[in-house]
Amino acid sequence: MKSESKVTVLGAGLMGHGIAQVASTSGFEVSLLDVKQEFVDKGMAMVKNSLGKFVAKGRLDQAGADAVLKRIHPTTDLGRALAGAGLVIEAATENPELKLDLYRRISDLADPETVIASNTSSISITLLASATSSPEKVCGMHFFNPPQLMPLVEITRGNRTSDSTLDSVRAAAKRMGKETVTCLKDSPGFIVNRILVPALNEAVFLVQEGVATPEDVDKAVKLGLNWPMGPLQLLDYVGLDTTFNITQVFMQEFQDSKYRPSPLLREMVRAGKYGRKSGRGFYRWDSPDSTKSESK
Ligand code: CAA
Repeated sequence: MKSESKVTVLGAGLMGHGIAQVASTSGFEVSLLDVKQEFVDKGMAMVKNSLGKFVAKGRLDQAGADAVLKRIHPTTDLGRALAGAGLVIEAATENPELKLDLYRRISDLADPETVIASNTSSISITLLASATSSPEKVCGMHFFNPPQLMPLVEITRGNRTSDSTLDSVRAAAKRMGKETVTCLKDSPGFIVNRILVPALNEAVFLVQEGVATPEDVDKAVKLGLNWPMGPLQLLDYVGLDTTFNITQVFMQEFQDSKYRPSPLLREMVRAGKYGRKSGRGFYRWDSPDSTKSESK
């Protein structure tokens, strides 16, 4: 039987581990799944690392951190992960084929009343829902990086999403201490990435054209617009590959060349310079979950 206090997070990567931590911190029992034990272990290590920061800051005591960790149940077994879950938050790799296959399997294994919310930043919610037998139970639930600190969740209505699905995901986000906005249509990039991705891409064009160095582009935007990170540091932080993929979705869905990715962005992705997750992008990074970049 499904329980409103159990959340299943599919994917223990940079977003999934943070979402699992947020859910557990707000009292949900959490199953955290990934396809290999080493990925699950890495996700749990990132949760521990993040909880350590909250303890060091005095925002959580050690007993509270231990309880958060104890409520997260790591697994590689999809059936076990889904058992009893009222809400499934899917934070798997941004690959449409892989996700569609996953949605088919969730649909086979989960209670038909279970709500399935995708943390996708670029794949159509309507498409994902089409792989299930209850498309009215599927919506978007997009967290921001790092989920432990960023207060927003974008909730997206797919073509067949029901009002009660949106209401229950809004309620879960609220219980997790998040503010929500609703994307009324299943539109590529939803609200935030529709604005952010062209801005990040434009920052790469500035470097490519030799208008300014990466450091000065970042300094200009930090001091001139009061962004906490400059656009190139943020690009490294969210991933050049992720951002490039979103430009591809925009090009395909909007059929508008204004979303054309900068050739430099494409080249860096081809070279494996994904930013923080690969240790190198516009800057050097010492670990995949750090917030501070080293110099170039
Ligand atoms: N868990 C717990 N604590 C963390 C943490 C984590 N994962 N990451 C950082 N912190 C803590 C640090 O320990 C630090 O604590 P103190 O203040 O006590 O030192 C504090 O948060 C601030 O961190 P830093 O000093 O290292 O760095 P910062 O002041 O620059 O803050 C930041 C970090 C909150 C990430 C800030 O830089 C920021 O807001 N950056 C922009 C992030 C952003 O725009 N995210 C959205 C990206 S777009 C997206 O996600 C959508 C998509 O689909 C692509």
